[in-house]
Amino acid sequence: MNASADRDMAAYWDRAGQVWVEHQALLDRLMAPIAEAVVEAAGLVNGESVLDVGCGAGATTFAAAWRVGPTGRAVGVDISGALVELARRRAGEDGIEGVEFLLADAQVHGFAPAFDAVVSRFGVMFFPDPVAAFANLRRALTPGGRLVFAAWRAPEENPLSLIPLRAAAPFLPEPPRFEKDAPGRFAFADPERVQRILSSSGWRDVTITPLDVASPLSFDELMTMSLRVGPLNPILKSADEVSRRKVKSAVEEALAPFAPNGAAVMGSACWLVTAKA
Ligand SMILES: C[S@@+](CC[C@H](N)C(=O)[O-])C[C@H]1O[C@@H](n2cnc3c(N)ncnc32)[C@H](O)[C@@H]1O
Repeated sequence: MNASADRDMAAYWDRAGQVWVEHQALLDRLMAPIAEAVVEAAGLVNGESVLDVGCGAGATTFAAAWRVGPTGRAVGVDISGALVELARRRAGEDGIEGVEFLLADAQVHGFAPAFDAVVSRFGVMFFPDPVAAFANLRRALTPGGRLVFAAWRAPEENPLSLIPLRAAAPFLPEPPRFEKDAPGRFAFADPERVQRILSSSGWRDVTITPLDVASPLSFDELMTMSLRVGPLNPILKSADEVSRRKVKSAVEEALAPFAPNGAAVMGSACWLVTAKA
């Protein structure tokens, strides 16, 4: 990627990161079991060094830091200045030892080959050149180091992502679409593609297993996830007031059956991917 594409990507994530900053508590609560599954599969032990890629506000970095203890080191790397700032603030407030956050593009950053494990919760699907990025991450590991990440399975398996988009589509000039295999939330939905990318970037012993998590949330939180977090947010921001109102009521109507008595369950259908350097 050239320098200007680099800047575009960082600028994009600075904007998109604001949404994650705003809704960090809700997102962390819903996705906590996924961070736990990732660090558990990484088999981290006291004293190890771990790199959390696309760390966002740091939830997985903190989960990893607890596992490696004060004699270990947990480094979160993210391209979004807004999220790295929030992650650093949280680390300071909670007084967690051995945690650092780095503002950098993980696809190209020259990491010292010092980590025992690379982990990520939903932070590795956005690379413009995934083979180059995963080769770069492999070089961050000591020999025999482990990779563990969670990535989304197909939108069809995550209906609460798809239903709001379908409900909103008639009221939007250009409804958002998920392009198969393009960098983005569902880039790693196809396990054969994940296998190809990891083999081409030099990883071995790749395993790809389904990880399904169900998190309770209120109907209001489900609406927040649908309208404020995710692809409808930027479109609605630039839409006129009438379209915004129409979208909101269409999404409300479409999601109502999933929240009888105001309580819903957010299912997350993911892949848990592991590999060795
Ligand atoms: C869906 S969010 C996940 C954040 C966090 N891992 C979590 O689960 O809360 C994706 C994150 O990847 C980061 N990201 C995207 N491309 C990146 C890159 N090339 N280098 C580092 N971070 C990147 C974004 O800034 C964003 O914080």
